[in-house]
Amino acid sequence: MAERESEKPIGMFDSGVGGLTVAREVMRNMPGEKIVYFGDTARVPYGNKSKEIILRYSRQIVRFLQSQDVKAIVVACNTASAFALEEIRHELKIPMIGVVKPGARVACKATRNNRIGVIGTNGTISSGLYTEFIREMNPRAQVVGKACPLFVPLVEENMWKDPVTKEMVRRYLTPLKEQNIDTLILGCTHYPLLRSVIREVMGESVTLVNPAYETACSLKELLAREGLTNEAAPETKKHPYRFFVSDAAETFQKFANSILPVDIENAQKINIEEY
Ligand code: DGL
Repeated sequence: MAERESEKPIGMFDSGVGGLTVAREVMRNMPGEKIVYFGDTARVPYGNKSKEIILRYSRQIVRFLQSQDVKAIVVACNTASAFALEEIRHELKIPMIGVVKPGARVACKATRNNRIGVIGTNGTISSGLYTEFIREMNPRAQVVGKACPLFVPLVEENMWKDPVTKEMVRRYLTPLKEQNIDTLILGCTHYPLLRSVIREVMGESVTLVNPAYETACSLKELLAREGLTNEAAPETKKHPYRFFVSDAAETFQKFANSILPVDIENAQKINIEEY
């Protein structure tokens, strides 16, 4: 019997492991959904590359995900959401969402003094997209952006709780603290993993926004609106999740198993340049 549209998997991608913070929120919030995840581990990081390159990589990955017959695509990467989403979205017949707009929306709801901080990669901050969305939703908002390029390697080296990481967080975030922001968007997929250190440095009075969580909520709404929710419980005991990478499958699998609510059996390496 032909698979119903709603039973098809959700496609997700990121430059590497970071988007797993988005995948885990989707797993927690939508247990009936299947996922095909692609991590571009051969070409990570995206955060310091040009828009042109990120667009080319994202188009290749979207073609790969479409070859897996996905019903919707989540750009689980802030840099790719900032540089590629708007252009590629119009080229597709299936819905596609990113992490930037959901994060901006929640920050606008959370702020009381209209002073919002955004941290992310060089690419995300230089794109100005968070600021654009925030100002569209709340023209009175003041947005202070700060690129924190060293956070990604610190997370990838599993140094989440290392004193060096705390020192880096303090250095990057002190200027934001001095700007009297009351809301801070963790605008990079890796940053939710530094949440407790960021909380310590920023203090209890600043609301930390995790776009990964908000993206999962937006995806749930989107699927419901389009009649694409998979209500059926997964039939087998095996998790309905498949993972693909462009390199270093074992390292990816190890990292995935340290942060996902389920253990993944394997990550398959593919040649993304063929797409
Ligand atoms: N996933 C990227 C992002 O959210 C961070 C890692 C990278 O620079 O590729 O922007």
